[in-house]
Amino acid sequence: MKADIERALARDAHDVLRLVAESQLTTDGLLDHLPTILVARLGHRIVGTAGLEIHSDGALLRSVAVSSDVRGRGVGTVLVESALHMAEELNVRDVYLLTFTAENYFQRFGFQSLDRGDVPASLRASVQFTHACPSTALVMLRRLRPAPEPSV
Ligand SMILES: CC(C)(COP(=O)(O)OP(=O)(O)OC[C@H]1O[C@@H](n2cnc3c(N)ncnc32)[C@H](O)[C@@H]1OP(=O)(O)O)[C@@H](O)C(=O)NCCC(=O)NCCS
Repeated sequence: MKADIERALARDAHDVLRLVAESQLTTDGLLDHLPTILVARLGHRIVGTAGLEIHSDGALLRSVAVSSDVRGRGVGTVLVESALHMAEELNVRDVYLLTFTAENYFQRFGFQSLDRGDVPASLRASVQFTHACPSTALVMLRRLRPAPEPSV
C-alpha cells in the first residue's frame, strides 16, 4: 500500500487527534507538536500518524498509530522510518519512546529498552513522562549518532 507521508497541516489537527485517540494513545499535549507530526495519507484520508516532540538534541517519538482497517500493510513501518529520518534532519541524537504494548514492534527499528533514570531531565519533564504515561510504561531508545566525548 502506497501512502503519502507528509508533515501534518493545521487543518489535519482534528483527524490526527481522532486517529490517535481511537488507537488508545494519549492526545495530551499533542497539538503543541503539530509541526513535527507526520501523517500518512491515502487519497484525502489520514490513515496514520507518528510525531516527534523535540527536546534539545533528544526527541520523544509518540502517537505512532495506524487506522485499524489498514494495519499490517507497512504504513506503520514507513511512518516510523520517516520519523527517524526527520529526527536526523533536525539534528536529534537520541530518540526515546514510551510503550506498553509495542516493545517488539519498535525493536525492529533498533529501539532498545532503557531505565527511566537514564532519560534526560528535559524529556522526563515532558507531559508524556509526567502525566500521560504511567511510570510502568517501558522506555526505549534509538541512538542516531554517538554521544559526544566527555571533555577532560
Ligand atoms: C503498532 C502499529 C502502529 C503498527 O502499524 P502497522 O501499519 O500495522 O505496522 P506494519 O504494517 O508496518 O507492520 C506490521 C507488523 O508489525 C507487527 N506488529 C504490529 N503491532 C505490533 C505490536 N504492538 N507489537 C509487536 N508487533 C507488532 C505485526 O504483527 C506485523 O508483523 P509481520 O511484519 O511479521 O507480519 C499499529 O498496529 C497501531 O496503530 N497500533 C495501535 C497503536 C499503538 O499501539 N501504537 C504504538 C504505541 S507506542
